[in-house]
Amino acid sequence: MHSSLPTAASLYDRVRRVIPPIEWPAFTDDIDAILTLRRERNAVILAHNYQTPEIFHCVADIVGDSLALARRAMSTEADVVVLAGVHFMAETAKLLNPDKTVLIPDLDAGCSLADSITASDVRLMRQRYPGVPVVTYVNTSAAVKAESDICCTSGNALAVVESLGAPRVIMLPDEYLARNIAAQTKIEIIAWKGHCEVHERFTPADIRELRQAYPNVTVLAHPECPPEVVAEADFAGSTAAMSDYVGRHRPARVVLMTECSMSDNVAVEHPEVEFVRPCNLCPHMKRITLANIRAALERNRHAVTVDAEVAGRARLAVERMLAV
Ligand code: 13P
Ligand code: SF4
Repeated sequence: MHSSLPTAASLYDRVRRVIPPIEWPAFTDDIDAILTLRRERNAVILAHNYQTPEIFHCVADIVGDSLALARRAMSTEADVVVLAGVHFMAETAKLLNPDKTVLIPDLDAGCSLADSITASDVRLMRQRYPGVPVVTYVNTSAAVKAESDICCTSGNALAVVESLGAPRVIMLPDEYLARNIAAQTKIEIIAWKGHCEVHERFTPADIRELRQAYPNVTVLAHPECPPEVVAEADFAGSTAAMSDYVGRHRPARVVLMTECSMSDNVAVEHPEVEFVRPCNLCPHMKRITLANIRAALERNRHAVTVDAEVAGRARLAVERMLAV
């Protein structure tokens, strides 16, 4: 027997601190429809930490950083996986679940890092640095993953690089993540020139101004930020690591140098913490809405496919990462 479904009305309490009452009625129809469809289709909704609170707190079954979403995608029993995030995340879920239907609500939800490198670029790097292992950030296409030895996320990049036992490692495509990891290891890191269009916009001057305007503010930065920004921050880590930091340390006042929805989503859990809100929006993450999640479940769109030969090689790189 099925337990009763939550309703949009009963969910408002979770998000009342970040969604004003006047905005809430615009969400309720879609939330109720999604909760019903999710059950009817035996679907699971995975949402990245950058999704808006009505998605993150009201319809997602599983939330987290890229690493957590990849891990959870591997173990789901659902028939359908809806990825509320960007295309590379849906592709990763498909690699790990070749027999399941994996849906991305908007096919144009891309990523500037994934767009910064092609499979042939990786082959050229291998020719230039023969024998040097290639670590590829998950923010890449399956075709790029297929050319690499192992993947990483911002949550495990240091452990992955150090697991290889090599004196030199090629780390693609995020130049800043590569340089931030290089600062923490003796291993020589060869980087690419890709950047996240959201995190590259933060500057050390932003942090200095924030510290002046908000005394005692704790500054947390994502490692896709430039190294000069990370150097001025109090802590740098993946979206999950930043969220954990707030939970463990409960700073009186905090700023998250990352995508805007992160602060909203973490603030819901921590009413005692003051969140200072300069942030940058990711236009790709923001393509996902309740309306297109509902349409994805109603019309089975957009099913993610990966060429079988590419998928086999890309899956190996992701599985090697998950084994570290
Ligand atoms: P993580 O959630 O893995 O920290 O990644 C951040 C990101 O920018 C994903 O697009
Ligand atoms: Fe890509 Fe940056 Fe957007 Fe993440 S925040 S999806 S890395 S563009």
